Amino acid sequence: MKNVDAKNHVSGKSIYLDDIPVRQGTLHALLYDAPVAHAIITHIDYSEAEALEGVVRIITHQDIPGENQIGGIFPDEPLLAENDIHFWGMPIALIIAESEYIARQARALVKIEYKELPVITDPREARKQDSLIFPPRTFKIGNPENTWENCEYVFEGEADSNGQEHLYIETQGAYAYPTEHGSIRISSSTQGPTAVQKTAARVLGVDMNRIEVDVTRLGGGFGGKEDQATAWGVLCALAAQILQKPIKYSVHRMDDMRITGKRHPYRSDYKIGLDKNLKIIAYEATFHQNAGAAADLSPAVMERTLFHATNAYFVPNVQVTAYSCKTHLPPNTAFRGFGGPQGMFVIESAIAHAANELGIPARDIQAANLLKDGDEFPYGQIVDYCNAGSTWTDAISTYNIKTIQKEVDNFNINNNHLKKGIAVMPVCFGISFTNTPMNHARALVHVYQDGSVGVSTGGVEMGQGLNTKMVQVAAHIFNIHTNRIKLETTNTTRVANTSPSAASATADLNGKALEIACEKILERLIYVAAKQMNCAEEAISIREEKVCVNGQPTELAWEKLIQTAFLSRVSLSEKGHYATPNIHFDKQKEKGHPFAYHVYGTAITTVTVDCLRGLYEVDSVKLVHDFGKSMNTAIDDGQVEGGLVQGIGWMTMEEIIYNKKGRLLSNALSTYKIPDIYSVPGEITIKPLATEGHPLAIRKSKAVGEPPLMYGIGTYFAIQNAVKAFNPNYILKFDAPFTPEKVLMGLYEGREVLAKVKAEEEKA
Ligand code: MTE
Ligand code: HPA
Ligand code: MOS
Repeated sequence: MKNVDAKNHVSGKSIYLDDIPVRQGTLHALLYDAPVAHAIITHIDYSEAEALEGVVRIITHQDIPGENQIGGIFPDEPLLAENDIHFWGMPIALIIAESEYIARQARALVKIEYKELPVITDPREARKQDSLIFPPRTFKIGNPENTWENCEYVFEGEADSNGQEHLYIETQGAYAYPTEHGSIRISSSTQGPTAVQKTAARVLGVDMNRIEVDVTRLGGGFGGKEDQATAWGVLCALAAQILQKPIKYSVHRMDDMRITGKRHPYRSDYKIGLDKNLKIIAYEATFHQNAGAAADLSPAVMERTLFHATNAYFVPNVQVTAYSCKTHLPPNTAFRGFGGPQGMFVIESAIAHAANELGIPARDIQAANLLKDGDEFPYGQIVDYCNAGSTWTDAISTYNIKTIQKEVDNFNINNNHLKKGIAVMPVCFGISFTNTPMNHARALVHVYQDGSVGVSTGGVEMGQGLNTKMVQVAAHIFNIHTNRIKLETTNTTRVANTSPSAASATADLNGKALEIACEKILERLIYVAAKQMNCAEEAISIREEKVCVNGQPTELAWEKLIQTAFLSRVSLSEKGHYATPNIHFDKQKEKGHPFAYHVYGTAITTVTVDCLRGLYEVDSVKLVHDFGKSMNTAIDDGQVEGGLVQGIGWMTMEEIIYNKKGRLLSNALSTYKIPDIYSVPGEITIKPLATEGHPLAIRKSKAVGEPPLMYGIGTYFAIQNAVKAFNPNYILKFDAPFTPEKVLMGLYEGREVLAKVKAEEEKA
């Protein structure tokens, strides 16, 4: 089935937040945000800004009727700064004006005085100063301390990965207006409608039932709108409540980049021990997560780093500890992979380090340690339905790694200034919110009198194809055409108390809830049909819009059946609730069974490095992915391609730079480079692993949103291998992204050329 939104997307008819026709009298909001990262405010003068014609009101923390608090996990984040500034871009006041243009002019007229305080941007520095968001956590299995002496080889080092700007095409935003009885309706570009509702209620000091949040779709979220869309929704609601006017805020790209948090940068230490058969028998890592100035989702992100610290490998003795370090950056947040990629980068670095020292390809170590059924993850879950080995073997043989390696070697012998490198990246990613209580969802289904169907779920469409999958689920259960089914907006008054659309679990959770709702209606329809056909219910089925008796189609078609049911006063509406079975986790013991299942895959990446300029191209990524039984291969392939390219961007070119004072320098698309059509791999081949799928996946079609991002990690090591092929003196570094600048430095470090150039420079 084609994506239900495809036609509207390409013809510009799809409605995003900024496309919603505004109501008469709509006012525009704009934040005045901190021009410094850490300070105490001594004085702010709004008088000139307020005096500007067209400025309606400037709202500060003093105007908040409820709590000035938007922290989702910990209450540590004010909506608007009071006396202290904790990051550059921290919201201080909300300017409401007749147009965005006027609001911008007014913003330039605000005068602030403050006393600057020392700024921390580095998580290691934060840890030294005991500046932590919450206490560290450790996952442990076996006993690494006693294993080091039994290791044939032990290697230690550091691995750092940088943040990543979400760069959803649609920036953050919201539109709110007052309705009856002290209520507010918010249209929000959020992955978490309930988070917006709950936080707006808290800040406005009203009950949750006074706040309605509606989401049509997002022009991308990628985790950046799981928690951080909330502020904009709440700001608009606050102004709407105070002024009793419709308020719109569609955030400018540079404001969005400056004010919102990103993927967490990590700085980590590793220690890896192998026996003589290349079995990893001990692994230790310490992760320093750069959380930024408030908790946001950092505790959950940090948790997933620990869950995925050993990626697709079985290691019997593991101790991994993570610190969530409080710095003066904007609070960092969810980003596709949710801490998992950061953890995996470290163990892949440790393996690359070991392989380099031993003079073997990293894949010899990777292959020797892949997970198998019956193995235990460091967090206690026992491996089952394992496809680590099968995707690996399939990729290695399908794409013939020996031939690829030979081609790369030949190329490198025959080329002086171009070198190729290759790397294999296995992935194992757990599906479920790591926080067990979040794993449930609801759906609401109406069958209308004409046989058409309206479906609401708690899931948010953000480009990942959720709505199409939901249509497929309903069409499958009723056995009717997909064009009879319409996906409604996501609305807190229709489906309440939702978890955010995240953790790649949206289609599983909401799809299973939808199945339950549809099945309940179907059961009633079968009862009606059996009465009508004068036969037993067991004999009835619906196939291709027709009631069948013992598999034989009858004259009773879907529409007629619905009319009959309605006239018999049978309810044609139903809700469904689904909670993932069998999952649990004990945070005291750090053991349990947190994931419904795991998604596996293996990618082989080949790159070519231009050794004169430090530029590189990804020639190909050939992968075998565990889709389960994909319910929509077009959508799922799209998720793999998009995730992969986003992962390549994180690993190679996307470089977030804050200066020492905490100011974002990479603050626009001219200074922050994301992959474009020229930087995607020359070839992406996706082979689905032949499998029966998993019973806890929606229609056995496994979650696909995040896992493919981590294939991108292979690119780092492929480039590194190409650099090694050119420069035997290159000293291995694990410091992503591997930008062309870093590649160039690596190509020439320790080389006579470089020494010569330096000597000449010094002379000059
Ligand atoms: N794909 C598109 N096109 N746009 C997005 O914003 N978000 C990703 C992934 N794929 C995203 C996307 C992230 S971070 C997650 S968690 C999942 O989609 C969420 O959707 P799912 O749970 O339906 O997979
Ligand atoms: N993944 C994504 N988002 C989340 C999670 C998770 O495990 N937990 C809370 N929010
Ligand atoms: Mo995705 S990072 O779980 O929104």
